[in-house]
Amino acid sequence: MAKTDLSYGRLPAEHEDHFLVKAAQLVGTDALLTTRDNIEMVIAAKAMMCAYGPSGYGKTMAVNSALRALAPKTTYRLELRGGPTPRDIRHGLFHALRLPGEPPRRPIEFDTLLKEVLAEQFRVLVCDEAQWMSRTGFEYWRHLWDDRNTDIAIIFAGGDNCYKVLRREPMLASRIFIWQEFTRIPKTEIRPVVQAFHPIWATCDLELIDAIDAEAAHGSFRNWASITALLQEGMASTGTEHVNEELVHWVYSKIGGM
Ligand SMILES: Nc1ncnc2c1ncn2[C@@H]1O[C@H](COP(=O)(O)OP(=O)(O)OP(=O)(O)O)[C@@H](O)[C@H]1O
Ligand SMILES: [Mg+2]
Repeated sequence: MAKTDLSYGRLPAEHEDHFLVKAAQLVGTDALLTTRDNIEMVIAAKAMMCAYGPSGYGKTMAVNSALRALAPKTTYRLELRGGPTPRDIRHGLFHALRLPGEPPRRPIEFDTLLKEVLAEQFRVLVCDEAQWMSRTGFEYWRHLWDDRNTDIAIIFAGGDNCYKVLRREPMLASRIFIWQEFTRIPKTEIRPVVQAFHPIWATCDLELIDAIDAEAAHGSFRNWASITALLQEGMASTGTEHVNEELVHWVYSKIGGM
């Protein structure tokens, strides 16, 4: 809890974004590079953006890495789960912005305070896990963004539901400047992407990489990360230096149907 409190709202260091895997490398995929271009435009326009797509496809990683490069000091991240209400968003912002004292009790006072603070200097607000957001939640962000004095860009990142909810409401959809869909790692790029991701794949038989993608990883970065982490364990405990089929089958026995 202490860690969450201290780090709340801040961009994590790159290694913290890597799910479970030691020595994993950030891969400059097309999606990662496109995210950086998109976020650059969104910042220049002080606009809103929606990065969406299935779980584990690299949205958080791409958004954080772009912001570490483009706006490390002005980015404030919120992860609000479980259908956040405007009240939850107000409190989330209060913490992420590290405002002093107690949060105001009355919504009107609270909004006045947030709008004043958000008018002080330009900031990028990241609302990650936005698939939990209802229309009312998005409306609240819009309300802050529409305010004449606030100086913000907002990036929503979330599962497909985030896209659906935003698209359904013309009032919201028309205000989203850039929509970026995250898709699986293309089959044609699996080999170079996986090999760049982690050194254990550098000496692996390329057809074995294709087979793992088809049988278990299905182009999902997070699946590749879990498989890599388990293989690392298996290799360390058996003293094996290269990925082989036997180890891969042992990993399959741990992960079930991915
Ligand atoms: N470009 C990349 N280079 C290296 N590793 C990556 C990259 N993108 C994703 N990963 C790996 O995949 C994992 C999952 O990525 P990430 O957390 O960004 O997915 P997500 O789309 O935000 O998923 P969710 O919707 O569940 O939040 C990361 O922890 C990291 O290990
Ligand atoms: Mg994420």
